[in-house]
Amino acid sequence: MKNVLVCGGSGYIGSHTVKELLTCGYNPMLYDRKEPEFNGLIKNVKCVVGDLSDYALLEKTIRDGKIETVIHFAGYIEVGESVAHPERYYENNVCNTLNLLNCMVACNVKNIVFSSSAAVYGCPREIPIKEDALLNPINPYGETKYAIERMLGYFEKAYGIRYVALRYFNAAGADKSGLIGERHSPETHLIPIVLNALCKDKEIKVFGNDYNTKDGTCIRDYVHVTDLANAHILAVKHLASGGQSRAYNVGSGVGFSIKEIISIAEKVTNKKARISYEKRREGDPSVLLADITSITTELRWTPENSSIENIIQTAWDWLKTKDKV
Ligand code: UFG
Repeated sequence: MKNVLVCGGSGYIGSHTVKELLTCGYNPMLYDRKEPEFNGLIKNVKCVVGDLSDYALLEKTIRDGKIETVIHFAGYIEVGESVAHPERYYENNVCNTLNLLNCMVACNVKNIVFSSSAAVYGCPREIPIKEDALLNPINPYGETKYAIERMLGYFEKAYGIRYVALRYFNAAGADKSGLIGERHSPETHLIPIVLNALCKDKEIKVFGNDYNTKDGTCIRDYVHVTDLANAHILAVKHLASGGQSRAYNVGSGVGFSIKEIISIAEKVTNKKARISYEKRREGDPSVLLADITSITTELRWTPENSSIENIIQTAWDWLKTKDKV
């Protein structure tokens, strides 16, 4: 089970997973709309540049590569954009995943690891969130992840495709080499925005300080991207050894408020933040915090790189490199 197709392997979490796959002796093949930028960290990895909607290319790639397992990262991730343009999310996330699953059926590929999201929970009733909590997404982005999780269940029943859906909490940080890291355009995620603002002495906009939390700002569960990448390797192994299909939360199990993140970022960078408090951002739950008992006990995963200091330090190291590449 060494030949792994990594759909969306040029992206942030995808590229870190490709690195870990290679370290663990797998043979990843990337399928992405764009070439990866590994900045010398990884050389000679195969990448097919294409779209998941291109059934013929996808099928050829899976057959030629003798693919045995798929890891599926490809998809749009912006909550706000999904509200403004839901059609883009249904088309790219749901329709293209359907295309991929149809291809897997045609090529007899039976295992898939899917990038789901804490967004499937919407505004959770209980914290920390367990996997069996009510799934009640509050935006089209979360709806598409939920739809895909359900689709995977039906494809298992009909065609025997087993899956692991990893429900990411807030992915952050960068590879310890400092050569790969988060690069979104536009950037909307808190940690890179805070670090960029500190670097350039810009104001940080905090969306809401009137939440029912200890300091009034939203609490999130930040998980280091290398730990997330390792969760994929364990999920691939779980499926290869005949493990059951299921969804797992992937977080650190610890929550930090926005104010806490800014204060730790100030310490890591030795710079002083300028903050402006804005109104709440639409669709933001006040607290998202994972119960990670299932993945730690069943897959023996540990968030070993996910101390908040390490997350922010590695993101900072990457930001300084990124400005040069
Ligand atoms: N925030 C600010 N200012 C900013 C950017 C963000 O105050 O400039 C706040 C947000 O309002 C939110 C928190 O920081 O309260 C975290 O925001 P992010 O955009 O970094 O992350 P989200 O929690 O909104 O979403 C992320 C992913 C989703 C995923 C979710 C699951 O983008 O795909 O985590 O926890 F579903």
